[in-house]
Amino acid sequence: MHYIRLLRGPKLDASNLKRPLISILLTITTDLGDSFLYPDEPVDLIISVENPTGQSIILDGDPPPRWTAGMRCLDVKVPIKPHFKKDDVTCTIRIHPATQTPPLGVLKGSDMLPWSVARGSFASKGLIMPVSVEMAKGICAPVAVRTLQLDSRSQPQDQIDIDLEEDIGESIARHIWDAGAVTASFLGDACSTKEGIYDTLLMREDGFNVLELGSGVGILGITLAQVIGRAVVRGHTSSKATVLLTDLSEAEERARSNILRAEAALSHINPNGSAVALQYEDLDWDEGKHGKFGTLVSARPWDLVVLSDCTYNVDSLPALIGTLSALHAAKLKYPGVEEGAKTFVILATKPRHSSEQALFGLLTADDWQYNILKSIPLPKLGEEDEAVDIYLLEKGKKMS
Ligand SMILES: C[S@@+](CC[C@H](N)C(=O)[O-])C[C@H]1O[C@@H](n2cnc3c(N)ncnc32)[C@H](O)[C@@H]1O
Repeated sequence: MHYIRLLRGPKLDASNLKRPLISILLTITTDLGDSFLYPDEPVDLIISVENPTGQSIILDGDPPPRWTAGMRCLDVKVPIKPHFKKDDVTCTIRIHPATQTPPLGVLKGSDMLPWSVARGSFASKGLIMPVSVEMAKGICAPVAVRTLQLDSRSQPQDQIDIDLEEDIGESIARHIWDAGAVTASFLGDACSTKEGIYDTLLMREDGFNVLELGSGVGILGITLAQVIGRAVVRGHTSSKATVLLTDLSEAEERARSNILRAEAALSHINPNGSAVALQYEDLDWDEGKHGKFGTLVSARPWDLVVLSDCTYNVDSLPALIGTLSALHAAKLKYPGVEEGAKTFVILATKPRHSSEQALFGLLTADDWQYNILKSIPLPKLGEEDEAVDIYLLEKGKKMS
């Protein structure tokens, strides 16, 4: 998949009152930022600029910006209606490929799932993730927002919009990655029925605790919180859930902002109070492998651990698997947890290099069993297709 990325926050130039402009410098790259989109056919982009009441403030008439093979960045000047002064410009800017279906600025999760994509459609050739950004009184927010819409084939009231802030600029940290986006879409789809949520998440009725490792912007944990929140409202489960995001401290600020956004969405799903607690705490695997956990990680036994795109750096695999095993060991010591209880892990990866296979040897050596839950092909525009592999790991054995 490719991503429209803002290389800097859009800037308003209102010096010419007859023709104020918003200038946008963008690029279209892969999640890792290691290659630019090189399409066979030019890709037209739609840019919308709407005020808080949803009215467009763009001066129509200019041709759409176009991305062609060989480009590394695109500098777009969007004319807005005359006589806007800086203080008047409070708006949402959305940038979206013209070929993808609306709503603008939103990627539908179903477009990432091959079983719901029509053969020959644009989605089947490779997606480009749209982006949006807020501008208040002519000043752009320091973060971009990605919106993933789950269950986009159902009634609007049943759809879930996952809004995730990420960094603006060339940094590859603190943004969305393919494995997370595809797995979030898969979980949203698989957990839309009562049977699906129990079979996929191996959920318990008497409270359910989910921990995300290397959460980055928090895509998997936040998706699960919203999916469980919706399941409670639909009567698919009555289980209360805790979802804890963890990462290195540099990820904390973005994760906490995204938790605030998700909490607003959860209270919208269930105005009577959400059944899901969403939290963040730092957890460095180099400490986790020794069983050194913070207060929130230590507070409860974890039924399900989730992680996406955390296994590409082979050097950190021993610490990561050590942390999984230490979480399982801590669970067994927790009062009331039966001897031989299992820990389940959903691990998603987009294989990038054969060295990543070391994961499986390390898992086996530490008594983890693994099975592939789903391998989801991911078409890539102008390049070879990729795939996201989702594994279910388990450790522990129930005594009969
Ligand atoms: C490629 S990102 C994936 C982020 C997120 N899971 C997603 O799919 O969007 C890898 C994440 O692992 C985290 N990470 C790397 N080494 C870590 C360590 N030693 N302890 C904890 N987190 C670590 C990084 O901070 C980063 O957020």
